[in-house]
Amino acid sequence: MPATGAKPAGAQDEASAAEAVREMFDSIAPRYDLLNHVLSANVDRLWWRRTARRFRPLLARPDAAILDICCGTGDLTMALLRHRPRGARPIFAADFARAMLRRGAEKFGPQGLRKRHNGRDAGAPYAVALESDALHLPLHDRSLDLIVTAFGFRNLANYEAGLKEFHRVLKPGGQLGILEFSEPGGIVGKIYAIYFRRVLPAIGRIICGKDGPYNYLPSSVGDFPPPAELLGMMRSAGFVECSWQPYTFGIAGLYTAARPPGP
Ligand SMILES: C[S@@+](CC[C@H](N)C(=O)[O-])C[C@H]1O[C@@H](n2cnc3c(N)ncnc32)[C@H](O)[C@@H]1O
Repeated sequence: MPATGAKPAGAQDEASAAEAVREMFDSIAPRYDLLNHVLSANVDRLWWRRTARRFRPLLARPDAAILDICCGTGDLTMALLRHRPRGARPIFAADFARAMLRRGAEKFGPQGLRKRHNGRDAGAPYAVALESDALHLPLHDRSLDLIVTAFGFRNLANYEAGLKEFHRVLKPGGQLGILEFSEPGGIVGKIYAIYFRRVLPAIGRIICGKDGPYNYLPSSVGDFPPPAELLGMMRSAGFVECSWQPYTFGIAGLYTAARPPGP
């Protein structure tokens, strides 16, 4: 059966799946950054930076309207901000888990950034936090030049609905970037599977003090559609120029697409 959306343990329908995901991220928010960096040996930073570099020309446009959806604690947002010029329009950074978003806003909000720069850089580009569900964005049709998301799309309760919502809010010609985990093949895949399915949940349990979230991670990646299938879903949602670029042996990868120009 083709994948339709995330199915955390115990979820009966899309509403309960979304609620379970939101509660899970709210509960791990205090440990999220630490866990991320430990479990990925900091490779996650390279992935966020590489994703941001892919959209450099668009990010360099001061008037570009940009959304980082499922921004969590804001590390992709921070990578995007590095390419924004001074005085640029703020990035929207949205997530439905308040505890994650609050931590993100401490990094990418104007006050957080000022603190980082010891109060010196008042004109630095920043992001605005939006507490919002990716499937119901509080944004106008055709209002964005770029939507990016890192490791959030897999958690949506309905992938087709997510893609349609992204298509709705993008301007014609607007671009989409989805950074997600995938399962590498071959010998690398076999070795990685041992780490991802056995070692990672055990470390996650020790640091975070509970079982659920780091069992959910490998199972949600296993259930996520493989690149060819997701690219097909992107085309069906109306996107063009759909492609997938593997990162680090295909452990992760960046899906890119565009809303076609014209009406
Ligand atoms: C694995 S974290 C990724 C956070 C961040 N982008 C990163 O790369 O570290 C996934 C995030 O997606 C958010 N998320 C999942 N489903 C969502 C939805 N339907 N609407 C908004 N945010 C959602 C979660 O709350 C969580 O913060």
